[in-house]
Amino acid sequence: MLLPRAPEEMFTGWLLGVYGKVVSPSAFVLVGDTPVARGAAPAGYVGEAAVLEATRLGLATCWIGGGFKKRKTTRLVELAPGERVYTVMALGRAPDDRSAELVARATATVRADRRVPLVEIAPSIETELWPAWALAGIELARLAPSARNRQPWRFRLEGDDVVVSYDGRETSYVSKRLDCGIAMLHFELAVRAAGCAGTWEMLSDPDVARWRVASVAT
Ligand SMILES: Cc1cc2nc3c(=O)[nH]c(=O)nc-3n(C[C@H](O)[C@H](O)[C@H](O)COP(=O)(O)O)c2cc1C
Repeated sequence: MLLPRAPEEMFTGWLLGVYGKVVSPSAFVLVGDTPVARGAAPAGYVGEAAVLEATRLGLATCWIGGGFKKRKTTRLVELAPGERVYTVMALGRAPDDRSAELVARATATVRADRRVPLVEIAPSIETELWPAWALAGIELARLAPSARNRQPWRFRLEGDDVVVSYDGRETSYVSKRLDCGIAMLHFELAVRAAGCAGTWEMLSDPDVARWRVASVAT
């Protein structure tokens, strides 16, 4: 749901801290009617599609999992019965002077530029021969944004398919399945570009989804 005017009181946080504070003139509010265990991965996938499209249009975005007031946001959007707010994404134009953002990034305890090595995301790349399309997929998934930059997605080959799961335990903060949904979109965009057609089949904990291969262009 697009919130053209996002009031500053919707956002929380300070300039210094885990993240730094994010405010924006507009926002996407990610709403769904499915319990988090089933709804979070599709929400991340769809939300990242909105983020990538906004980026293509030259807008600045930032996923906000912790830095917004859930009750206030819920009052701002008209929810149908059974619907819930998963998270929001700030949306606006980046100022030409980015010094405040650079200060926030430098002092935040989240290291936004850090990416875990490929071999941690997909341990079997050391012992199994991964097809080129699948490698392209995990390389792009590796660059996906995640809450606190925790990058919980893990990938493994199962026959011709690739299965996505998350590391460790689920959290009550932002669902790791939501992060995985974001990574799934990155993975899919890369594998389709590399000639692999397929579909996602949702799986249950701690697996998230299977990329079921339909065909690979030769
Ligand atoms: C679900 C989710 C929640 C996030 N929550 C916040 C947040 O509350 N505040 C913030 O400044 N950044 C937030 N981020 C942004 C991440 O910290 C950022 O994506 C990560 O550190 C990697 O940095 P990059 O996207 O610049 O590569 C969130 C990202 C995701 C995917």
